[in-house]
Amino acid sequence: MVTRIIDGKAVALGLRDEVRRRALALRERGVVPGLTVILAGDDAASATYVRNKERAALECGIAGRTVRLPSDVDALTVLRAVEEANADPGVHGILVQLPLPAGLSRAECQEIERAIAPHKDVDGFLPVSQGLLLLGQPSFLPCTPAGCMRLLRSAGIEVAGRRAVVLGRSAIVGKPLSHLLLAADATVTIAHSKTPDLADVVRQADIVVAAVGRPGLVRGAWLKPGVCVLDVGINRLPDGRLTGDVAFDEALGIAGAITPVPGGVGPMTIACLLDNVCLAAERAAEGH
Ligand code: GUN
Repeated sequence: MVTRIIDGKAVALGLRDEVRRRALALRERGVVPGLTVILAGDDAASATYVRNKERAALECGIAGRTVRLPSDVDALTVLRAVEEANADPGVHGILVQLPLPAGLSRAECQEIERAIAPHKDVDGFLPVSQGLLLLGQPSFLPCTPAGCMRLLRSAGIEVAGRRAVVLGRSAIVGKPLSHLLLAADATVTIAHSKTPDLADVVRQADIVVAAVGRPGLVRGAWLKPGVCVLDVGINRLPDGRLTGDVAFDEALGIAGAITPVPGGVGPMTIACLLDNVCLAAERAAEGH
């Protein structure tokens, strides 16, 4: 079997083109879509993500602003930054980059993350956004799960009536993506670190999503021939290279289609964020 490589970069560029056109249409109506990113601390990976978001926003005609705060910042200062962005009519989307500095308690982090106004929650992480998704009335789709669904659609992968196995139960990827697959009429299994016989579970799947954060966890021998594999893992190897949660080389020749790392799901996350910012600005322009 020839395995098709799903080119997430190309699909993401297509979505970014669409976002650019919508941002331009908004600007012609006097609305400049605005995104505020709050970055506290000096986590290297977060700094890279935020730089990429800033660059992509600029390219799409979205006014991006990053509030950079030191790693010893107190919760009140971060909360004030969120409140300021909430009150600013020029800011349509707000994102608090995670993880927040280790000096902040779990309760403080929750308070900060939950302070974002729901109509500006372009990450889709707020309890109300996640609850609406669960009810099938999504407000903003979390970006990585939304990117996965778009990739399936653009690759022409049938979801309705198929068996999907999602590896990982995070609040950011595994859980929301399971609901999106369910809403698209897949039969969904969520597997995780305590699931016995993981290989047997994965072997049942027509669609496998790996979102665990363990390099090469999913082996080629676990895959049903023809399966579609979405690899959400972004793991840095000791030699500096990035790799996914799936043993990519082993999957070639068995899977029907697979996303590579890098260049698969990753580029979709930022494109879907910009899509959400545009959506927020369009709603604001319509007065709701
Ligand atoms: N940290 C890693 N990924 C993300 C993301 O998608 N959003 C936010 N806010 N923080 C992250």
